[in-house]
Amino acid sequence: MITNKQSNFILKGQIIYSKPDWSVSYNENAYIVCEEGKVEGVYENLPDAFKAYPIIDCKEQLIIPGMSDLHVHAPQYPFRGLGMDLELLEWLNNHTFPEEAKYQDITYAHKAYSIFVDDLLYSTTTRACIFATIHPEATLDLMSQLEASGLYTYVGKVNMDRNGSPRLQEESAAASYKATREWIISANKSFKHTLPMLTPRFIPTCSDELMNKLHTLQTEFNLPLQSHLSENLSEINWVKQLVPTSKFYGDAYHQFGLFGGEVPTVMAHCIYSPEEEIKLMKQNNVYIAHCPESNTNLSSGIAPIRKYMEEGLNIGLGSDVAAGTGLSLLKSMAMAIQVSKLYYCLVDQDKKPLTTEEVFYLATLGGGSFFGKVGSFMPGYAFDVVVIDDSAIKAPRSLSLKERLERILYYSDQVQITEKYVDGQKLKIASK
Ligand code: GUN
Ligand code: FE
Repeated sequence: MITNKQSNFILKGQIIYSKPDWSVSYNENAYIVCEEGKVEGVYENLPDAFKAYPIIDCKEQLIIPGMSDLHVHAPQYPFRGLGMDLELLEWLNNHTFPEEAKYQDITYAHKAYSIFVDDLLYSTTTRACIFATIHPEATLDLMSQLEASGLYTYVGKVNMDRNGSPRLQEESAAASYKATREWIISANKSFKHTLPMLTPRFIPTCSDELMNKLHTLQTEFNLPLQSHLSENLSEINWVKQLVPTSKFYGDAYHQFGLFGGEVPTVMAHCIYSPEEEIKLMKQNNVYIAHCPESNTNLSSGIAPIRKYMEEGLNIGLGSDVAAGTGLSLLKSMAMAIQVSKLYYCLVDQDKKPLTTEEVFYLATLGGGSFFGKVGSFMPGYAFDVVVIDDSAIKAPRSLSLKERLERILYYSDQVQITEKYVDGQKLKIASK
C-alpha cells in the first residue's frame, strides 16, 4: 500500500549502492535526495539547494537500493519448504502441478496470494518478475493485490497446453491463446505498475502451435517474456526430443521468435547452456535469473555465473519459490556466493568465487536494469530504497559498512526491514 505522496525528500543514514562499473559506494552518515521519484544524488554534506526538503533520519540503519527478484512463482508459496527430495520433473508432477491446479478456485487463490504479497512486501524486493498459473481470474487477482501493494512487477499468466496434468493444462493452443489475449487486455486496462508478461512455462509444456501463437501476441502487444532454460539434464534431453529441429534448448525458443532481441526476456537457471546458447543470449540481450537455492534444492546443478559475468551477459537473482524456500534475496546472495565456491573447487578453478560486492550488484543493479534505470543510487535512477535495521546482529566492536553488508547476507533472518520506497513512494509494510 502506498502511504506517502510527498515527492521531494531526503533520507539520512548509512548508504550503500552499486555503480555500473560493479564497484560499491559506501557512504556513512550520508544523505540521499529524492526528487519526483528519482534519485537526485547522494551527499556527505547536504547542499543548500535541498535544505528545505524534509529529512527522515534513519540513524544507524543501512539504506540500500531495492532488490529485483527476476524469477518467482507466486502460487508455489504455500508449499515452500516441502518436497525437496525430488528432481525437477518429478517435483513438478508430484508437488507443483497439484498445488497450482488449486488456483482454479478463486477463493483459495485470493487467500494464498494475499499471504504471498504480504511477505513479498516485507522483504528487500521492490520489483519482480512473477509466474502465476494458467488461470486468468486468479492471475488478475494476484495482479490487483500486487498493484495495491505499491510494488512494481511483471506478472505472467502461465501457458501450458501439453505435458501438464489432467487438472493443470489448457484445453488447446487456441484456448490458451484466447485466454491469454483476454487476460492481457484486461491487465493493461486495470493496472499501472503491475504489467503482463508472456510466460510459456517451458518448452515441454508448450506445443509448437502455442509457441507460434505466443509470438503473435508478442508482436501485437510488445510484451516482455519469461521462462525456464537449461535447468536440468532430463529436461534438456526431453526438449531435444520435443523440438527435434532445435540445435540447443535456447534455439527451441528462438525458432519461434521468443528468445529476446526486440523485447526484454528473462530465462531462469541457464545451468547447462552450451556455447551457442550463451552466444545467442548475449546477442539477443536475454537476462539470466540465477536461482542458486532452487538449483541446490532440486539437485539441478551449479550455474557458471563467473563465466557469464566474464562474457558480459545480463544477470540478476531469482528466489524461484518454491524450489527456493523463501523470498529473501539476501539469502539468495549468500547462496550465490556459496555455490560459486563449490563450482570453483569442484568444477573449474579458473572461475573465482563471487564476492559480496558482486552478488550485491546482481541483486540490485544487475536485476534492476531489466526494469529500466533501477537498482542504483546514481542520479536519475528510480528511488527504490530499502532501509534495514541490522542492530540485532550483535558485535563487540563497530563494523565498517562493507562488513555490515556482508553480515546481513548470512544473518538475513535477523534483520528488520523498516522502510521501503518504490519510485519515491513509501510502501506500507507490516513489521514482522
Ligand atoms: N520448469 C518448469 N516449471 C518450473 C517451475 O515451476 N519451477 C522450476 N524451478 N522449474 C520449472
Ligand atoms: Fe521457476
